[in-house]
Amino acid sequence: MSTLDTVIRLAYLAAAACFIVGLHLMNAPRTARRGNTVSAAGMATAVIATLVLVIDSGMVSVTGWTVLLSGSSVGALAGWYFARTVGMTAMPQLVSLFNAVGGGAAALIAVHDFTGAAAAGADLPARITVPTVLDIIIGAVTLTGSLIASGKLQGIISGQPLIFPGARVVTAALAVVMIGAGGYLATGAADVTVLVVLALAALAFGVTMVLPIGGADMPVVISLLNAFTGTAVAMAGFIIGNSVLIIAGALVGASGGILTKLMADAMNRSIANIIVGGFGTGDGPTVDAGAGGQVRAISADDAAIQLAYASHVVIVPGYGLAAAQAQHEVRELADLLQTRGIKVAYAIHPVAGRMPGHMNVLLAEANVPYSQLKEMEEANRELARADVALVIGANDVVNPAARRPGNPVSGMPILDVDQARSVIVVKRSMGHGYAGIDNELYSDPRTGMYFADAKKGLAELAAAVKTLVG
Ligand code: TAP
Repeated sequence: MSTLDTVIRLAYLAAAACFIVGLHLMNAPRTARRGNTVSAAGMATAVIATLVLVIDSGMVSVTGWTVLLSGSSVGALAGWYFARTVGMTAMPQLVSLFNAVGGGAAALIAVHDFTGAAAAGADLPARITVPTVLDIIIGAVTLTGSLIASGKLQGIISGQPLIFPGARVVTAALAVVMIGAGGYLATGAADVTVLVVLALAALAFGVTMVLPIGGADMPVVISLLNAFTGTAVAMAGFIIGNSVLIIAGALVGASGGILTKLMADAMNRSIANIIVGGFGTGDGPTVDAGAGGQVRAISADDAAIQLAYASHVVIVPGYGLAAAQAQHEVRELADLLQTRGIKVAYAIHPVAGRMPGHMNVLLAEANVPYSQLKEMEEANRELARADVALVIGANDVVNPAARRPGNPVSGMPILDVDQARSVIVVKRSMGHGYAGIDNELYSDPRTGMYFADAKKGLAELAAAVKTLVG
């Protein structure tokens, strides 16, 4: 082994260590930012080491370099621009797009290597064909699946489950084609036509897998596709013999897999259902989620009286709080209540908002003490003892319809806001949440609807409390 090879391998080892340390640092909000920097440093090291390797090998022609440099400059600039300008609420769509390009790129590596080896009439041993088949299947499914997921989150495609007649049969047929073509190629057959069939079937499978998923289940599918991206990248690493790709891909695959399991458990769903499809459409025929009753609109003054004379308030933040960027206003209101000796806690639902940990990140930005954030179980215990549940821009995660079968949120554990003595809901209108269904909590006689944008409404609420208590 040459000195350069040794240096490159050491650089890859250092990069892998950075990924692992970075991931570990992301365990706690206090160190997460540092974790990101350490991981990025690892990635920069891996990229530089690979560039040195490529330059030294002299394999790349002038045209190759032109394509490589222009492609990576455009990609880097686009990534930098979108990452800097994207709103917090659009982050899941962006993550989904990154998943798509990651999966697609990994699949292209396999296609390129396979077609090159087939044209050269080279022997294709199982250690290459098996990861090649897996890479193409997983990468292609991730590419189209993530594009559909991103479109749904962005509202370009309906967020409702889209099921066309015979959809399940088509999905099953595509799975059979993938298994047949993949099995054939894995035996070492250098057949490019079969490879194309495999890739097309996997691309179509990604579409038919994600289209029927809707309602409140999208977080789980995004997390699953993220795990797929990592796995496809690891397969690409096996194909081209690059250890750092294997390690980085395996880390993303494993951590994405764990996150998927946690989120599926939190949503009371099984991962198998996600892949089979149709998940999210409820267990039976869709029924009315049950609204229709009269709602009681209240003013900032009415809400302030309820809050100022409570002794225990539980705040339930949701997507609307993030959309309004009202995290500082909610903190100010909570501080104000606490100075009056009122006990305040925040109830955090695992899929509130539009990305895992959305509410935690948002509230951390306003320096809300972590000790005040209560996870589902503890939050539900607090809600049962609370005088007031103050629901801010949350809808699906507090929808009692989840306790009944036959609707898009059926079976999803919810925050039991209706167990509190009284409920104040801050939102702009009777508009639906992500799952697109009515919420009977709003017509509960104990619920007061304070119709306002969360930012403006909370500021007015704090002012009203101040006026009231002097
Ligand atoms: P949602 O059910 O989406 O409801 C949010 C509510 O916020 C809406 O009903 C909306 O009503 C209100 N709102 C919007 N902008 C507002 C503003 N400026 N001020 C005040 N209110 C505003 O939110 P949720 O309860 O947090 O549930 C999250 C949903 O998203 C779940 O179904 C979940 O499965 C899904 N989802 C989650 C994720 C992750 S990982 N967290 C990812 C994708 C999807 P108005 O229009 O009437 O104001």
